[in-house]
Amino acid sequence: MAFNVTQIREDFPILKREVNGKPLVYLDNAATSQKPKQVIDSIVDYYSLYNSNIHRGVHTLSQEATDAYEASRKKIQKHFNISRSHEVIFTSGTTHGINLVANGFTSFLKEGDEVLVSAMEHHSNIVPWQMLCERSGAVMKVIPMSEEGTLLLDEYDQLLSDRTKLVFVNHISNSLGTINPVDIIIEKAHQVGAAVLVDGAQSCSHIKPDLQALDVDFYVTSAHKMCGPTGIGMLYGKESWLQKLPPYQGGGEMIAEVTFEKTTFADLPHKFEAGTPNIAGGIAFGTAIDYLNEIGFNAIAGHEQELLTYATEELLKVPGLKIYGTGREKTSVISFNLEDIHPYDVGTILDKLGIAVRTGHHCTQPIMDFYKIPGTVRASFAFYNTKEEVDILVEGVRKAQMMLS
Ligand code: ALA
Repeated sequence: MAFNVTQIREDFPILKREVNGKPLVYLDNAATSQKPKQVIDSIVDYYSLYNSNIHRGVHTLSQEATDAYEASRKKIQKHFNISRSHEVIFTSGTTHGINLVANGFTSFLKEGDEVLVSAMEHHSNIVPWQMLCERSGAVMKVIPMSEEGTLLLDEYDQLLSDRTKLVFVNHISNSLGTINPVDIIIEKAHQVGAAVLVDGAQSCSHIKPDLQALDVDFYVTSAHKMCGPTGIGMLYGKESWLQKLPPYQGGGEMIAEVTFEKTTFADLPHKFEAGTPNIAGGIAFGTAIDYLNEIGFNAIAGHEQELLTYATEELLKVPGLKIYGTGREKTSVISFNLEDIHPYDVGTILDKLGIAVRTGHHCTQPIMDFYKIPGTVRASFAFYNTKEEVDILVEGVRKAQMMLS
């Protein structure tokens, strides 16, 4: 199927609305993606036709809901090339997945052990590990980055040692768009016996990671970044790790047998899925994966790279505009500032023009400290954006500059 952005936009009801009297130009896709009607319909269908709790009932509705939920787990398994479906754990999102792993590592680490984090992590891939270090006495060290916003792999080599137990890094930076060489990072970590968790929150809308080829220990992501609903995500863990990790939350569904004296836990994946999950969300996550695969990740990446190149060229024509994150391997995220103008003020004017961007530190304060700035304006493009929308953005930025200078 040839890539047809006009036709694709028809799938997204929200793209027809106006904001402040102007057609919506939605460029905040790194915060959350918009949802096609196929995904919205699958949520409506669940609640209209077979709403019921899963894994518990003998009745028809419960069977239908269980089948749809478990079919979605299999879609995720296939999409990410995961060898066993019980290595897919449904979570509420990336943050939940990271906390689950960080919590589980408490008893595996001891004083003097080291964990490595990259300089360009989202707070959710820093704070849970800091809490882990406080509990265990392990020390966190930082893999530094260059001015262009790429990780310094020589420095990474220097930091790795037999004290290193864990490395956590994002696949793609939410603030800079940098695509990190996670294959190299994983290989080097494994050479010293360290496990690696990759935060895939920003990658899965742009690329289709092959988790067996990556040989990663843990990979986490959120459905809402990839056209699915909020409140649902997945944790992939190698079976050997998931067997070793203790449960994160206790409750129904995650047990084999309970007495007042002792509880034994359910097999994977249920050991990590206490309580009634986000059933509609889990089913719609599978629908989102189907939808993206129907378009195809090659087509998605091709269109987004075109938008990135065009938007970068056009924005750089605006006098005094500086882009943060200029590495060669980059996805369709542009963080920028206009000389002496606060990003919040630019974002406010763009909003008046119907243009949605994110402003601020993007939950990456260490990156902002590195560049010594309070924040940036961030335009993040998805496959349903157009060159015309880039033109509207650039015109809006010029207008903001005129009004605020
Ligand atoms: N982490 C999301 C972002 O980058 C919310 O905007």
